[in-house]
Amino acid sequence: MKNLSRIILSSYLILTADILSAADTIVSNSPTKTEPFIFTRFDNEQMKPLPDKLVFDSKKVALGQRLFNEKKLSHDNTISCASCHDFNRGGTDRLATSVGINGAKGEFNSPTVFNSGFNFVQFWDGRAASLEEQAAGPVHNPVEMGSNWDEVVTKLRNTEYVDLFSKLYEDDITPENIVDAIAIFERTLITPSRFDQYLRGEETLSEQEKGGFQRFKEYGCSSCHQGINIGGNMFQKLGGVKNYFANQKSSIADLGRFNVTGREEDRHVFKVPGLRNVAVTPPYFHNGSIKTLEEAVKIMGEAQLGRELSVQDIKLITSFLQSLTGQWQGQTLQ
Ligand code: HEC
Ligand code: HEC
Repeated sequence: MKNLSRIILSSYLILTADILSAADTIVSNSPTKTEPFIFTRFDNEQMKPLPDKLVFDSKKVALGQRLFNEKKLSHDNTISCASCHDFNRGGTDRLATSVGINGAKGEFNSPTVFNSGFNFVQFWDGRAASLEEQAAGPVHNPVEMGSNWDEVVTKLRNTEYVDLFSKLYEDDITPENIVDAIAIFERTLITPSRFDQYLRGEETLSEQEKGGFQRFKEYGCSSCHQGINIGGNMFQKLGGVKNYFANQKSSIADLGRFNVTGREEDRHVFKVPGLRNVAVTPPYFHNGSIKTLEEAVKIMGEAQLGRELSVQDIKLITSFLQSLTGQWQGQTLQ
């Protein structure tokens, strides 16, 4: 079965429904290997269903999950990754901008960790190339966990983690092994939804949701929000058509990718966010300034497409976006 899956996946075949089940499992520890994928309903569109399951080393996943919830990763032992990426809040903190140790307020809205393994780069401005690289960020960030690897490794050394790590890694507790386990756990955080079933040919969407999807494609939302994560595969300017920042004071965070490259053309450019589970991850945008999904959709129409969406359009597109709320471990995200 495993070999069959590999053969099918590596040859990029467009599969018919009856052999889909064989390809539902992808065996990989590498994010790049999750790329080849299956199209049925929308061969010509750049929407791809999630695999139902990804198989990883379960012991590393368990260790990664534990580390994700480990407050010792923060300087004062008060905050874990899960504090800001709460699985009961769609993998976010539902705050406009996150709050770190000692109540320190950050400048960015916390994106969901669900399906983050499918993003081509991490962070709103794309400054981390991988989940491994990303995980070092919050540990060192003074307005997040405010710690450093020496401190973290020292704290973990006095605990049962020594045993857990040495069973899995030759050099036991090192920063590289900590981020390896966390990243492997994060890659298991995938949330198949009714939309994925629809892409595979099942009639799982209502007329209203289908109408929203139709508009999402026709109006051009899907020229940016596309691929397996319905986003997360390119950089684009916020306000590409209409200057979004014209009538407001912009902050350093608003400069987006410019902060990474220093190039004028990267001003206000952000990674296009994936829209999976977007209905359960308010507030919206890089600075969490937009409270509702309807408002985010309306602004997108104006700022990105130069289109004033009708109330009906906004309603339909929003209901389509709600169909992207998926399941993790058998539970629909709330
Ligand atoms: C204090 C809150 C906070 C903590 C603690 C925290 N994060 Fe985050 N996380 C954020 C914010 C805010 C961002 C967005 C920052 C940015 O883009 O500059 C983010 C971004 C991310 C991203 C990128 C997602 C994307 O779509 O770009 C991942 C993955 C992630 N965090 C995982 C983790 C892991 C793993 C840990 C623990 C080691 C962690 N976070 C700890 C708030 C937090
Ligand atoms: C030209 C590219 C582009 C187009 C077209 C586009 N978007 Fe976006 N979208 C973005 C970018 C970039 C962001 C991030 C903006 C920010 O965070 O500051 C974004 C953010 C969003 C968000 C907020 C997500 C979050 O987690 O905060 C939603 C919802 C959204 N878009 C929906 C849509 C819809 C619906 C359409 C069509 C009406 C659309 N977008 C068209 C690039 C685009």
